[in-house]
Amino acid sequence: MKKEQVVNCQFSVWYPIFKKHTIKSLILPLPQNVIDYLLDDGTLVVSGSDNNTQQTHTNNNDSDAEEDVQWSDDETTTTATAPEFPEFTSRVLEAINALGGYVFPKLNWSAPRDANWIALNSSLQCQSLSDIFLLFKSSDFVTHDLAQPFLHCSDQDSPDPAINYELVLRKWSELISGGEFRCFVKENKLIAISQRDYTQYYQHVLKQEEQISHAIQDFFSQHIQYNFLDEDFVFDVYRDSQGRVWLIDLNPFGQVTDSLLFSWEELTSGEVAHQQEGPAFRCTNSEVTVQPSPCLSYRIPRDFLDLSTGEDAYKLIDFLKLKKSQQEESEEEEEEVEVIPQQ
Ligand SMILES: Nc1ncnc2c1ncn2[C@@H]1O[C@H](COP(=O)(O)OP(=O)(O)O)[C@@H](O)[C@H]1O
Ligand SMILES: [Mg+2]
Repeated sequence: MKKEQVVNCQFSVWYPIFKKHTIKSLILPLPQNVIDYLLDDGTLVVSGSDNNTQQTHTNNNDSDAEEDVQWSDDETTTTATAPEFPEFTSRVLEAINALGGYVFPKLNWSAPRDANWIALNSSLQCQSLSDIFLLFKSSDFVTHDLAQPFLHCSDQDSPDPAINYELVLRKWSELISGGEFRCFVKENKLIAISQRDYTQYYQHVLKQEEQISHAIQDFFSQHIQYNFLDEDFVFDVYRDSQGRVWLIDLNPFGQVTDSLLFSWEELTSGEVAHQQEGPAFRCTNSEVTVQPSPCLSYRIPRDFLDLSTGEDAYKLIDFLKLKKSQQEESEEEEEEVEVIPQQ
């Protein structure tokens, strides 16, 4: 995989070519100060000032009883002030409104799929720039786009092409995972199709294997083949309930892209391409083969999440008790330290 192939798979490169066959989206250039903020490990706190007024109202409804509660008695605590980007914020809000109020965010290549657990709705659905920042700042996939987009490229000696970073906002669409497939194209030939979410077994996918494969082959030959800048690439599709196929994403043909139910060796050696007439089709074929979700390792423990969302009140009480006893212990230790006579 060459650096140029990665460059060609940027959203702003492929979207204009395939606009008619994909989800409506808007692309905003990312200002340098926003890039710096996203790369800065220190500040996670995001300003709430861009929230929709509607949200602010609902937040205010139950505030009267809690006004006097002082949650922290530690006077030395300093609150990090979030940077504000008023101009960018208003452009983002305008774009979100133009796309119907709910968006799916990504950068030039990646969405923050590894960070959905951190959002209150456990989803990548965003309504404001602070929703987007929370996901982006928690995502290793997004950091990869910003910090090392050309990792795994074979032409490491050539200089890195200049990248203009962009915020991609896509109209939110409820996609059913069973309808998503990844398609591998080598020398402009569709060689393999894999169920995208291979952690689940979908009976209908197994049953309609041939139908799905044909629908994707037609979509490829009519709209995709020979229209892209490279002859090797990977494209993701969605087959909706009416059987219509949509383009979801384009990815480089190489290690950076998950080969799902195939291996990169099979795909590059030509082994897959020569075994049958059309593309090889693979899906998860029984409950037995169901695998853990690949993003699971990015999550924090369930207990912690329950605590943070307050879903389990007893856990929170236990946690606070634990904190209190730890605090008492450390205070005792401090006292002990003080007892040691100075010599
Ligand atoms: N517009 C959208 N609305 C809702 N979910 C989406 C949208 N676009 C993509 N998704 C979901 O997010 C997943 C990842 O999207 P994708 O653009 O391929 O990001 P990445 O390249 O980082 O994997 C898709 O498989 C799909 O399930
Ligand atoms: Mg992708």
